[in-house]
Amino acid sequence: MPSVRSPALIRSADTADAAGIAAVYRPWVTGSVASFETEPPDAAEIARRMLTAPRLPWIAAERDGAVVGYAYAAPHNARAAYRWSVSCSVYLAADERGAGTGRALYRRLRAELPPLGYVTAFAGIALPNEASVGLHTALGFTPVGVYRAAGFKAGRWHDVGWWQLPLREPPAEPVEPRAWAPAPASDDGAAGTPAG
Ligand SMILES: CC(C)(COP(=O)(O)OP(=O)(O)OC[C@H]1O[C@@H](n2cnc3c(N)ncnc32)[C@H](O)[C@@H]1OP(=O)(O)O)[C@@H](O)C(=O)NCCC(=O)NCCS
Repeated sequence: MPSVRSPALIRSADTADAAGIAAVYRPWVTGSVASFETEPPDAAEIARRMLTAPRLPWIAAERDGAVVGYAYAAPHNARAAYRWSVSCSVYLAADERGAGTGRALYRRLRAELPPLGYVTAFAGIALPNEASVGLHTALGFTPVGVYRAAGFKAGRWHDVGWWQLPLREPPAEPVEPRAWAPAPASDDGAAGTPAG
């Protein structure tokens, strides 16, 4: 049944959101295999990740003043030739699912990446995860392949499916990616963009 919830506010995330992001992420670390981390990072660790170079976009979904979801990009691989490729992730509070918030977060994340110079986005999904596969497919990601028995968590081995999304035409002579900066609060922190 379609959701009747009002759209969450979608905006740039900054280190002030780290505690809220850590709280959203924690249950997916401790109670699921959606994340392959086994120890939930605290707010300080999330803030460190947000600021680690190269700085990449973190987007928050806010409802009633609280962070209820987030999406971010991270370097796909530390080796130099990969530096125009990112890996994307998205997590919502459990009761925020199914209201279009994941789609809105990813649409905003996707829009932030090409102007910075990034060329390709990847996403790894521990299988099965119908909602995440559905979201990535809805956003235009296409399947690349499956890493078999790629991780062991919660007493068993898990396959990871990889998806990818072209962000822009690969340039013949790419310039170095630029660092992301959150939009000033006056531009989007106060008003943000309604999801949808
Ligand atoms: C995956 C997740 C981010 C999806 O976010 P969401 O806000 O619930 O998804 P949306 O409501 O924006 O749905 C967008 C599209 O995704 C797909 N989708 C969402 N939930 C789905 C489900 N349960 N089954 C199949 N497809 C689904 C649909 O195509 C949907 O489009 P539609 O509403 O027009 O049919 C959310 O379920 C979540 O946080 N899950 C737990 C954490 C997780 O697995 N993160 C991904 C790690 S790889």
